[in-house]
Amino acid sequence: MVSHSCKTNPKNIMQLNDKTIIVTGASKGLGVAIAETCAREGAAVALAARSEAKLAELRDRITGSGGRAIAVRCDVSCMADLRRLVEKTVAAYGAIHGLVNNAGVNFVKPFLTVTEEEWEHVIDVDLKGSFFLSQLCARQMIAQNTGGSIVQIASVHTHASVAGASPYDAAKHGMVGFSKAAAIELAKHRVRVNVLSPGLCRTEIWNALVAAAPSEAECTRYWNSNIPAERLVEPEEIAQACAFLLGDRSSCITGANLMADLGMTSQLVSGEPYKSKEIVGA
Ligand SMILES: NC(=O)c1ccc[n+]([C@@H]2O[C@H](COP(=O)([O-])OP(=O)(O)OC[C@H]3O[C@@H](n4cnc5c(N)ncnc54)[C@H](O)[C@@H]3O)[C@@H](O)[C@H]2O)c1
Repeated sequence: MVSHSCKTNPKNIMQLNDKTIIVTGASKGLGVAIAETCAREGAAVALAARSEAKLAELRDRITGSGGRAIAVRCDVSCMADLRRLVEKTVAAYGAIHGLVNNAGVNFVKPFLTVTEEEWEHVIDVDLKGSFFLSQLCARQMIAQNTGGSIVQIASVHTHASVAGASPYDAAKHGMVGFSKAAAIELAKHRVRVNVLSPGLCRTEIWNALVAAAPSEAECTRYWNSNIPAERLVEPEEIAQACAFLLGDRSSCITGANLMADLGMTSQLVSGEPYKSKEIVGA
């Protein structure tokens, strides 16, 4: 039997109804999945990235299926672009209730050879961009007196590292650090700040790993041996976790770093390929 509230307002079941949410890095990968899920859950979405053509394509797909979206060209390492993004979102929808700092860059290079320029690029996009966009959105949320939810897309690299990722790891750890401080300072304004840390996802990053491996089967075998669930995280799964953190169902959660990694960071070493003797009462 359909409940009374569902009958009178079917939109009640949507997690993000009447919310306006900014999603950065919405031109591909996780950003596209997050933006589409937010729109499906009832939010008006402001899509931000550097590629106007890709943003326009996603905006048209969302609005074509009855959703609400605007596209704003934005380089998250540029303060003027961040201010413009917030202004355009407020001009279009009157308020901001959610922010997903998803835009990110990485490269693989030994710690001993990283240059100042390479360090600055990763820190400017991954850390400085998410810091100052969080600040701008939090100011707007406080001025509206509505509260809000800010989600940083970090990584399992906030837990442990792999060789060659030192600037990325510094940036992603930094996102956790400032988010905890912001969560404490903003709690009285009902603005929540959380980190969502994905494991290995099926995006272009996976395609690059496959391209570098002898075969897709070999690449899959290696990575599955490092992931307890023995599979990749699908972008839609990250999008669902993100919608949960953005919505009111997570109202008591702030300052958290949620691992969305199929058990990857809970595991000390992968399963032994041979059967060791049981040690009973040793
Ligand atoms: N895919 C994974 O396995 C994985 C795992 C852990 C964390 N992450 C994180 O998730 C986020 C998205 O990952 P993805 O796999 O979709 O990556 P991706 O490279 O496919 O997409 C990254 C997005 O960020 C945008 N971007 C890059 N620099 C930008 C800038 N200066 N200004 C605005 N936008 C910019 C890109 O245009 C793109 O839209 C990243 O922050 C990444 O670090 C991904």
